[in-house]
Amino acid sequence: MAKILVKEVLTPQIKLMVVDVPRIARKAKPGQFVVVRFHEQGERIPLTIADFDPDAGTVTIIFQEVGKSTVHLGEMEEGDDILDFVGPLGREIEEKNFGHVVCVGGGVGIAPVYPKARALKMLGNFVTSIIGARTADLIFWEKEMRSVSDVLHVTTDDGTYGEKGFVTQVLENTLKKDTVDLVVAVGPLIMMKMVSLLTKKLGIPTLVSLNPIMVDGTGMCGCCRVTVGEKCKFTCVDGPVFDGHQVDYDELLARQRTYLDEEQRAMEVWRMKKAEEETIRVTK
Ligand code: NAD
Ligand code: FES
Repeated sequence: MAKILVKEVLTPQIKLMVVDVPRIARKAKPGQFVVVRFHEQGERIPLTIADFDPDAGTVTIIFQEVGKSTVHLGEMEEGDDILDFVGPLGREIEEKNFGHVVCVGGGVGIAPVYPKARALKMLGNFVTSIIGARTADLIFWEKEMRSVSDVLHVTTDDGTYGEKGFVTQVLENTLKKDTVDLVVAVGPLIMMKMVSLLTKKLGIPTLVSLNPIMVDGTGMCGCCRVTVGEKCKFTCVDGPVFDGHQVDYDELLARQRTYLDEEQRAMEVWRMKKAEEETIRVTK
């Protein structure tokens, strides 16, 4: 059991929870993830660790409500217990002084890029961060990202805040004028693909954090397999951080859509059940 100590609504669909898990907090490293399950029949949800505090014994998760399980998780409140909270899983990002590192966080990917930027800054890297979302209301953790960056750019697709356009446009401008030694990108798969295409042309090493469908999270089921450098890798044990230039993004994009119909159906059934429960409650 893991108690939710703090819950914050960052944007209408993105929630933050600080969870009391001392043993995980002591071992967590930037780049790792946890698997969360909140009832016996529940789906196992992999979530990248957004922050951790070994002294306080807490791990922070940030998630977007995209389906039944994440909407359900988002309804839990401070003081509630999460049934299973397993981790830290996966391999951590290599921590060293590369020189000038550009950290790119797209949408909800801002959360997992934060501990990486923080660790790289603490090691003496010059950190330029670029965070972006579709619109102003969806930008979060600007202050946190600023605190671990030497330079911070904020973009919105519609120009309602910061620079107008995709994060990749600012990245392209940065790569034109500055020498960059490493790019770290976390966000939607298509964004990580576009970042990797840009940096591959210039020969700049690039790390991306993948989040394919996962089941066990321990290398047993093969569900999270991805092709990296023409080899089959399991994201949960070999990743989630990989060399962005080696990832077969198109295969992964196709696999991510496999269960869309089932996810939609599960969401509809759950919403109907909730509506029925509400009707019974009101008419009692
Ligand atoms: P989104 O679609 O709103 O995009 C966020 C930003 O990414 C955009 O503002 C833009 O700057 C950039 N972007 C989007 N499409 C792009 C393109 N074609 N070219 C260049 N840049 C582009 O993102 P969202 O809805 O917040 O994110 C949801 C996605 O993020 C989900 O698919 C989720 O699975 C993924 N995600 C990934 C991780 C991870 O660890 N890799 C973690 C959490 C979520
Ligand atoms: Fe099962 Fe990775 S989630 S092998």
